Amino acid sequence: MASSVNLTVKLGSLIFKNPVLTASGTFGYASEYKNYMDLNALGGFVVKGLSVNPKKGNKPPRIVETPCGMLNAIGLQNVGVDKFIKEKLPLLEDVDAHIIANIYGTKAEEFIKLAERLEGVGRVSALEVNVSCPNVSKGGALFGKNPNEVVKLASSVKKHTSKPVIVKLTPNVDDIAVIAKAACDGGADAVSLINTITGMVIDTKTKKPFLANKTGGLSGPAVYPVGVRMVYEVYEKIKVPIIGVGGIYNSDVALQYLMAGAALIEIGTANFTKPDVTIEIIKGIKEFLKVENIKSVGDIVGIAHSV
Ligand SMILES: Cc1cc2nc3c(=O)[nH]c(=O)nc-3n(C[C@H](O)[C@H](O)[C@H](O)COP(=O)(O)O)c2cc1C
Repeated sequence: MASSVNLTVKLGSLIFKNPVLTASGTFGYASEYKNYMDLNALGGFVVKGLSVNPKKGNKPPRIVETPCGMLNAIGLQNVGVDKFIKEKLPLLEDVDAHIIANIYGTKAEEFIKLAERLEGVGRVSALEVNVSCPNVSKGGALFGKNPNEVVKLASSVKKHTSKPVIVKLTPNVDDIAVIAKAACDGGADAVSLINTITGMVIDTKTKKPFLANKTGGLSGPAVYPVGVRMVYEVYEKIKVPIIGVGGIYNSDVALQYLMAGAALIEIGTANFTKPDVTIEIIKGIKEFLKVENIKSVGDIVGIAHSV
């Protein structure tokens, strides 16, 4: 049994103390969780998706539970980038973990504005660019479905920031490896995947879709085999680090993502049922490495490909 294990991970110029982060939209602006757990234990947090102006989001109902998961159509509600910088970030001053700003817009100019606005904000370590949003100049088609748009968006954001750029991919595409490659061609320092999978629940009493938005994004344990498969496929096609996300609820699933090729992982929906699940996952990964006599977490990244 290895006496100590190395959990640190490098992403560009950043060093993470361990590979476990929280996923955007599922952990607020992180400070809300201060009373529930030691935030310093985590590798970092990806905060709720930020837009140039505050956004109220969609009308309720916006959430519905499903077996082993949930469907959400929150509609990217957030306080806007300025309020985030002024009121939310200072609450994390004393926290020793990376803060990653997830950003979204409906046209490239909005992503650029967000990158510029966050450029001077030292506390934000990296940008995660959510491409699962409609591009108004392309009739509302998702940015993330079109490789050319992904190349353009990644390179535009890169030109306006000195921070590492992570492109967060939608699974609602034919070939996610093509989109991941496009993100890299645009200069992405890493990709994260997956965002939610589009779904619908119908209320048989009202005979109508349950969510006011009709469709929503499926997340939670039900989606993890899709995420693991997609990380596996992307790992073979790109050179930059992958952040695996989707349905991780325990250390075994976290390890599956790492073995498929993820260098880091994000925990989302599982935080809703167990706010400190991330701590358990870090412990579980550490224990596995000790028992297997593996010195560094990096040694298992992509290991499932060598079989
Ligand atoms: C309520 C909710 C809000 C979310 N908000 C965002 C968001 O603002 N930006 C984003 O990129 N992803 C968002 N996501 C997607 C998650 O970050 C994650 O990619 C997805 O839920 C899959 O992981 P999970 O199954 O562990 O939740 C949201 C997910 C949920 C459930």
